[in-house]
Amino acid sequence: MKFSLNDVISIRDFKKSDVEYILKLAEEMEPIARSEKVCHKKDGKLLGVMFYEPSTRTRLSFETSMKRLGGDVIGFNQKQGTSIQKGEVLYDTAQIVSQYSDAIVLRHDMEGAARYVANNVDVPVINAGDGAGQHPTQTLLDLYTIKREKGDLKNIKVALVGDLKYGRTVHSLVYALAMFNVEIIFISPKELQMPQEILDDLTKMKCKFKIETQLVNNIQDVDVIYMTRIQKERFPDPQEYLKVKGQYTLTRNIVQKIDGIVMHPLPRVDEISFDVDTLDNALYFKQAFYGVPVRMALLNTLIK
Ligand code: NCD
Repeated sequence: MKFSLNDVISIRDFKKSDVEYILKLAEEMEPIARSEKVCHKKDGKLLGVMFYEPSTRTRLSFETSMKRLGGDVIGFNQKQGTSIQKGEVLYDTAQIVSQYSDAIVLRHDMEGAARYVANNVDVPVINAGDGAGQHPTQTLLDLYTIKREKGDLKNIKVALVGDLKYGRTVHSLVYALAMFNVEIIFISPKELQMPQEILDDLTKMKCKFKIETQLVNNIQDVDVIYMTRIQKERFPDPQEYLKVKGQYTLTRNIVQKIDGIVMHPLPRVDEISFDVDTLDNALYFKQAFYGVPVRMALLNTLIK
């Protein structure tokens, strides 16, 4: 098996064999991610982290992954304190970080930013989220979580719940689910449905999906319930946000009665009650851990 990409920008660039390659390598990385083994594969290598938007898990798990591989990290997690405040453009900042590091991880509020940087620097670039666009590394860790917990991606049914319009995690994830013939149920308020062009792509990919607005009735026989946060910061009008917020909450009572595992890319706002956390099928914190072996697999493959 081989990995065919030099950059990780969109899950749509992946062949099925690329996804399988990373998922398999991630399994080998798990003992290192759990601190049971020490690794020197990327000793002396540096990862350049450029985060223009807030992040907890994505940034910290990339840092953890690079350090677990024996490497180190440089970069910034906010514009404040960098020359971006003096008016430096993305192109120039990326040139500089590429001079100092062996790969770049970029999170930016503009869709297309990661592709633009990848086209203009000589080191591998990983998209850690570009606006409402794509979040391919989250998708890989989501798939890894499903595979680890369900044993396989075959014959799986997934409900995606919440902000399907602005959520980049679901915009990425659906393409990978379609690749593995996973059946999808979209559950969202009418205003926040999956964009039509993505639905058209899924139809072309012969993906089986249906669109619903009601939560409880539609999650009874699914294998995975993937909750998402309403992406408040991406609403052009705050009034529109107020109309749709707080519509779906998974309570302990609901989750106790279903077999499916509950996932969430996090951060949660009010989509999952805190008393769900102790149930066996609450998988979201474990899912966040799986981000480490998956990102280790990616960094180990991309950084030569
Ligand atoms: C997500 C993101 O940034 O898109 N967070 C993450 O990376 N785990 C989800 C979100 O912000 O709602």
